[in-house]
Amino acid sequence: MLRMSFPEGFVWGASTAAYQVEGAWNEDGKGPSVWDVFCRQEGAIYRGHTGEVACDHYHHYDDDVAVMKEIGLTGYRFSVSWPRVLPNGIDPVNEKGLAFYDRLVDRLLEAGIEPYLTLFHWDYPYELFLRGGWLNPDSPEWFAAYAETVTRRLSDRVTHWMTLNEPQVFVWAGHSEGRHAPGLRLGAAHLAVASHHVLLAHGRGVQAIRGAARKGVQVGYAPEGIVRIPATDRPQDVEAAREATFAMNGTYLRVNTWWMDPVFLGRYPEDGLRAFGADAPRVASADMDTIHQPLDFFGFNNYFSRQVVRAADGSIVEVEFPPGAPRTAYQWDVTPQSLYWGTRFFHERYGLPIYITENGLSNIEWVSVDGAVHDPQRIDFLTRYLRALRRASGEGIPVRGYFQWTLMDNFEWAAGYRERFGLVYVDFQTQRRIPKDSARWYKGVIAANGENLQETRISQ
Ligand code: FCB
Repeated sequence: MLRMSFPEGFVWGASTAAYQVEGAWNEDGKGPSVWDVFCRQEGAIYRGHTGEVACDHYHHYDDDVAVMKEIGLTGYRFSVSWPRVLPNGIDPVNEKGLAFYDRLVDRLLEAGIEPYLTLFHWDYPYELFLRGGWLNPDSPEWFAAYAETVTRRLSDRVTHWMTLNEPQVFVWAGHSEGRHAPGLRLGAAHLAVASHHVLLAHGRGVQAIRGAARKGVQVGYAPEGIVRIPATDRPQDVEAAREATFAMNGTYLRVNTWWMDPVFLGRYPEDGLRAFGADAPRVASADMDTIHQPLDFFGFNNYFSRQVVRAADGSIVEVEFPPGAPRTAYQWDVTPQSLYWGTRFFHERYGLPIYITENGLSNIEWVSVDGAVHDPQRIDFLTRYLRALRRASGEGIPVRGYFQWTLMDNFEWAAGYRERFGLVYVDFQTQRRIPKDSARWYKGVIAANGENLQETRISQ
C-alpha cells in the first residue's frame, strides 16, 4: 500500500493577521489604517465591532508565543501592520512599531518557531488612501519602500516572506463590493487600474525584499486559491474542474488567473483581458517583467470550494451540495477535497512548492460548564482536510507546510467577533486565552507529523 505521509521537516503552523489580533490601534505612534476608519462607519461591521483592541496581541504576544510553543507549532504566519511601521505610509519610520516585530520575531525564534511574515494583509495606511490608494500610480513604489524598510530590519532573522494576502478579497470586497475597507464601489475601469498597481506592488515588493535581504530569503505570495472540485472521479469532470478553476468570470475579480498568471507566468489571462475589454489595464512594456518575479513558493489560502461536472454538451455545470450537507458556522461548505485538488491544480499550472497558508473553520462554541472549550467539529474538519492534503503530498506534490487559520479567535473583518476560527478561545472582555480541544488534538498531529490522521477515532 502506498504510504501517504507528510515529508520530513513539514511545517505545522497557524496564521494570523495584524489587524485581526494586534489591537493597540493608535499606540506608540501607529498611524490609522483604512480598517480603523472603516470600522467606525455606521453599519459597516457586525454590531459595530472594531479591531481597536482585538486580542490585544500587541501586549500579549509573549503569552501568545508561549501558547504556540505549547501546541508545538513549528511555524507561525503573521502580518506586519504597514501604518504601525510607517504611520503615514511613507516616512518617517516609527521605531516603536518596528520594535514590536523585532520582539515578536525574537520570541518566536527562542521558542523554536519559524516566522512566516506577510507584508500586507489588508490594513492599508489611511494617509495613502487619501492620496488615491491603489489607484495612485505611485502605490507600487510606496509598497516597495515599505517592504524594504521591514526587510532591512527583520531579514537577519526572518527567512520566509510573503508580499500580499488575497488580493482578490481586498480589491474585490474592498474596492468593488464596498463591504471591506476602504468601502469603495468602483467600476471596471478603476478596478483594472487598481489591480494592475497591486500586481506591480507585488513585483516591486519581491525586488525590494531580495534587494534588501541580509541573508538568503524565500519569497512567496498568498492569493486566495479558489478551487472548483470535480463532483465525481470521471476524467472529464476532473478536466472540467481544472478548466473552471482557471477561468475568468466576467470582470468579477474573485478569480485566480487574473491575480496569478501575471505573477507566475508573466501575462494576463486572455479571457480576463477580453472580459475587461476597453477597460483592461494599460500595461507598460516593462510592467510584466516587474510583476513576474521569480518566487520560491505558492501560498494557498482555502476554506471551501464549489463542485462541477462536464455536461453531455461539453459545458461545465456546477453541482449543488445536497440539502443538509455539512456547513460551518459561517455557512461555508465543508469540502476537504479542496486541499487535494487545489494543491494539485496550482502546482501543475505554476510549478512551485506549496504551503497551505490558511485553512480552517468558524464554529459555534463557548466555555463549557467544565471550563473547557470543546470543538469536535474543528477536529473533524481539520482531520478531513489534512487527509486530503496528505493525499496530494503522497502523490509527490511538494507540499511544504500547513498553517491553520487561526491561532486564536479574532476580529473577523465585516463579521466582527461573531465568527470563532481559533485553536485557542479568546474571551474578548478579559483577554483570557483557553486552548480548545482542537489545540490539544493539533499538538498530537504535529508530534506524529500527521501519521495519526489515519485513525478514525480522533483522540484529543
Ligand atoms: C481569509 C482571510 C483571513 C480570514 C479568513 C477567515 O479570507 O485572509 O484574514 O479572515 O479568511
